[in-house]
Amino acid sequence: MRRSALDFLGGMQSMSWAELSTILAVAAQPLAADFAGTRFIQLYLYAHRVDGLLPGVYRFWLECAELQRMQSGDQRVAAAALSLGQDLAGNACVAFSMIGDLDRAAGTYGDRGYRYVHFEAGAIGQRLYLAAEALGLGATGIGAYYDDEVHRHLNLTTKQGQVVYHFAIGYPIPDPRISASNDPQEIT
Ligand SMILES: Cc1cc2nc3c(=O)[nH]c(=O)nc-3n(C[C@H](O)[C@H](O)[C@H](O)COP(=O)(O)O)c2cc1C
Repeated sequence: MRRSALDFLGGMQSMSWAELSTILAVAAQPLAADFAGTRFIQLYLYAHRVDGLLPGVYRFWLECAELQRMQSGDQRVAAAALSLGQDLAGNACVAFSMIGDLDRAAGTYGDRGYRYVHFEAGAIGQRLYLAAEALGLGATGIGAYYDDEVHRHLNLTTKQGQVVYHFAIGYPIPDPRISASNDPQEIT
């Protein structure tokens, strides 16, 4: 049943703190890959509607599973604008920027490091997809974003890494492509 949400219901309904915690715990699980002894991705969250969490930008520290507030205030317009003007990043309950430490990856693995950073981001993204789906939410990977504007908005120096993936989780709008039926003839 895992599908990408086309957009999210941008109303008042929040996701719970427990749901976000579960999603982040899943994202933080170790990766089973020979290059994954160290993590190259940092997660930044644009919290729009999460119970118990003030709207703002947060950094998620994987090592200690803690959220650090970096900015306060409504991020819905910013998250959508940074995601190439895609509304779904603002209508979600929470959106993400994955920031990859490409310099450290290249220093450790040479040119292959660039690919490993993207493997890691992709693996985290698939976990976010599955965790959201398991909780009855929806998710969408977002590969389109304005790199330089993301770095500016998050106050990142080049040394701190570069954006490699965006993501959004929330209440999906009904998707006419998907049927609850397992009968392929009922799926149009
Ligand atoms: C790496 C990646 C980047 C994506 N970027 C976008 C995006 O920028 N905007 C969007 O609406 N969907 C985006 N998607 C969702 C894809 O459009 C979607 O995965 C694809 O249509 C297949 O549908 P499915 O995920 O439901 O199987 C992205 C998905 C992935 C995995």
